[in-house]
Amino acid sequence: MGKTAEGTLLKGKRILLVISGGIAAYKSLELIRRLRERGAAVRCAMTSGAEHFVTPMSVSALSGEKVASNLFSLTDEAEMGHIELSRDADLLVVAPATANILARMAQGLADDMATTLLLATDKPILVAPAMNVRMWVHPATQRNIEQLRKDGVAIIGPNDGEMACGEFGPGRMAEPLEIIAAIEAQLGKPLPRHLTLVSAARPAPTPASVQPLAQGLKGRRIIVTSGPTHEPIDPVRYIANRSSGKQGHAIAAALAAQGAEVTLVSGPVSLPDPPGVKTVHVESAREMFEHCFLNLPVDAVVCAAAVADWRVAVEAPQKLKKSGDLPPTLKLAENPDILRAIATTDPKRRPALVVGFAAETENVVAYARKKLQSKGCDWIVANSVAEGSGTFGGDRNTVHLVRGDSVEAKASVEDWPTMSKQDVAARLAERIAEHFSASRRKKDKSA
Ligand code: CTP
Repeated sequence: MGKTAEGTLLKGKRILLVISGGIAAYKSLELIRRLRERGAAVRCAMTSGAEHFVTPMSVSALSGEKVASNLFSLTDEAEMGHIELSRDADLLVVAPATANILARMAQGLADDMATTLLLATDKPILVAPAMNVRMWVHPATQRNIEQLRKDGVAIIGPNDGEMACGEFGPGRMAEPLEIIAAIEAQLGKPLPRHLTLVSAARPAPTPASVQPLAQGLKGRRIIVTSGPTHEPIDPVRYIANRSSGKQGHAIAAALAAQGAEVTLVSGPVSLPDPPGVKTVHVESAREMFEHCFLNLPVDAVVCAAAVADWRVAVEAPQKLKKSGDLPPTLKLAENPDILRAIATTDPKRRPALVVGFAAETENVVAYARKKLQSKGCDWIVANSVAEGSGTFGGDRNTVHLVRGDSVEAKASVEDWPTMSKQDVAARLAERIAEHFSASRRKKDKSA
C-alpha cells in the first residue's frame, strides 16, 4: 500500500472526530495528525469527559480548527450550526468511544454537543471502542454494540492487550493506523486482511466471541500469593522487603481472565485488588500461610509473594524504647515456607500444579532447577533481580520458566524475552491453562 494511494483516498475528505473521555484519548491526537498528513480535513468535537484527558487547545492546534464542545458559543452556532457541522462531514468517527457514549448513541440521546452531532448526522459513523475489559464484555455494552451495528454504525476494535487499568483483554482502542484503515474502508477502500471491521453487514460480536481470552481455566480454583510480608518487631516497627506485588497481582488477574476462580493472598501492597479476584489481605508470613491452607483444596497454587524468610522470634508487646547504650538485639526465627509446605502436603490435598518463584542475582536457571527440587514444586518462574534489572517495583520482568512436572518428561526451560509484568502474567496463565488441558487429554486417553 503506497503513500500516494493512502493520500489520494483521504485527500479533501472531511472527517468529524468525536473524542470521548477515556485514557485512549491521547491516541486521538496521533489520529488527527495521521489524517491530516493524508490530506483529510478534521473537525473535532469533545465530550466534557474527554477534556480531562486531552485539552481542547491541543486538539484544536493539531486539527487547525475550533473544537466543538459543550461550550460551543452562540457565535459559532451562527457561523456553523451543529446540524451543518455533522452533515458537512463525509464520515463521523468516535475515537475513543467509551462505554458511556456507546450507550448514549444506542439510546439516541442528544444530551451534549458530541451526541447531538452524532444524532443529527446523515453520514456514516465509525466507532473505535476503548474501555476496561469487563465493561466491554458486559451484556449492557454488548447490547448497545449490537444496537449500533443494526443502526449501521461500523465498529473497529477493540484490540486485546494490556490496559491502563492493569488488566489484560479486549478493550484497548484500535491503533490510529488501524482506525485510518477502517476510515478508508468506509470510504470505499478494501480493509487490510488482518483487520476486522464490524459493520451492518457482519455478525455482531457476542460476549463469547469478543472474549478472545480462551476460558481455559474455567472451573479451576487457584491460589496466588503476592506482595511482601511484614514481620512485626513491636507494635510500630516491622521487617519487610521491596516487593511491590505487581507481578503476583497481574498473575491473579490473568488467571481470572482465563476463567479461574482465584484467591489472592496478598501481603501489604499499595495496589488495588484485581477485579474478579477474591483478595485476602494479610500482614505476616504466618498469616499468609494460614490463609493459603484455609483455601485448600485447589487445582493450582502460584507463590509469587516475597515472603520474609525470618521473623522476630518474640514480638515486643510495647514499642521498644532506646534504653542504655546498646541497641536491642533481635533474635530471629524462621518463617514457615508456604511454597514448600503446600508442595509437600498430603497428596490428597496437594494441588495438581504448584508454581514457585525464584529471585536470583546470578546463575538464574541453575539455582531455579535446584529450587525445584528443594521446594518439591512443579514449576519455578525464575527471574533476575540483579542490580539494574529493575524487577523489584518495576513494570518489566525477565523470566525463565523451569518445569519439572510429570506432564513434561524432564525439566524443561523456556527463556522468555523481557516483557511487561502483565505480559508475563498472561503468558504464565496461558501455560497453566495448556498444562491443565494437556493433563486432561492424557487422562482421557488412558481412561
Ligand atoms: N516462599 C514461600 N514461603 C517462604 C519463602 C518463600 O512461599 N517462607 C516462596 C516464594 O513465594 C517463592 C519461593 O518460595 O515462590 C522463593 O523461594 P525462596 O527460597 O525464598 O527464594 P529466594 O528468596 O529466591 O531464595 P534464596 O534464599 O534461595 O536466595
